[in-house]
Amino acid sequence: MSATSNLREDHRMVRRIHRMVRRYSEIIYGSGYVPVEDVKKILILVEMFIDAYHHFKEECSYFPAVKGSMLEDEARALMVEHELGRRIARMLNMNLDAWLREQGSEPVARMLKAYAEYLYVHMDREERFFASYDAMVQEQEQSKIMDAFDTIRRERMGDDRLRLILSMLDELEQRAGGYDYDDQGS
Ligand SMILES: [Fe+2]
Ligand SMILES: [Fe+2]
Repeated sequence: MSATSNLREDHRMVRRIHRMVRRYSEIIYGSGYVPVEDVKKILILVEMFIDAYHHFKEECSYFPAVKGSMLEDEARALMVEHELGRRIARMLNMNLDAWLREQGSEPVARMLKAYAEYLYVHMDREERFFASYDAMVQEQEQSKIMDAFDTIRRERMGDDRLRLILSMLDELEQRAGGYDYDDQGS
């Protein structure tokens, strides 16, 4: 498997998380109610899978391979976008309880929406980058990057952690389907 295919596989999981971020933003906008424990779970998934694992792989092993090439600027721009995502997630994480106390549900819905929009645009841009990357970075180099990915996976995404993430995601997907706010006259 190439490093790019490996990241594309991660992206399938990132898209599942993205769907939950967007869905919960809609639920909160539609009902005015914040399912706090669910939102906290989403933030844990973002932190554990997207930030500390997937973006880490891209930043530490994948993007550096195009240093000095015509793709370097684009790789740097993608890393700047990661930083934007981190800031949005951190802001929501740090302020969640205070916003709920002082401002109600709207800022929570707005931050989730901002994160979903960021992630959508970022993934789309990155998928285009992947195609150019594969044209430039040869198989041998990609297999070295895969070795680095294996190390990161051992260190940051053991089987137990992955099982936990998958079960949290399953649970959120089930619960999100149960919020029928449109039928409650809101
Ligand atoms: Fe990325
Ligand atoms: Fe990515």
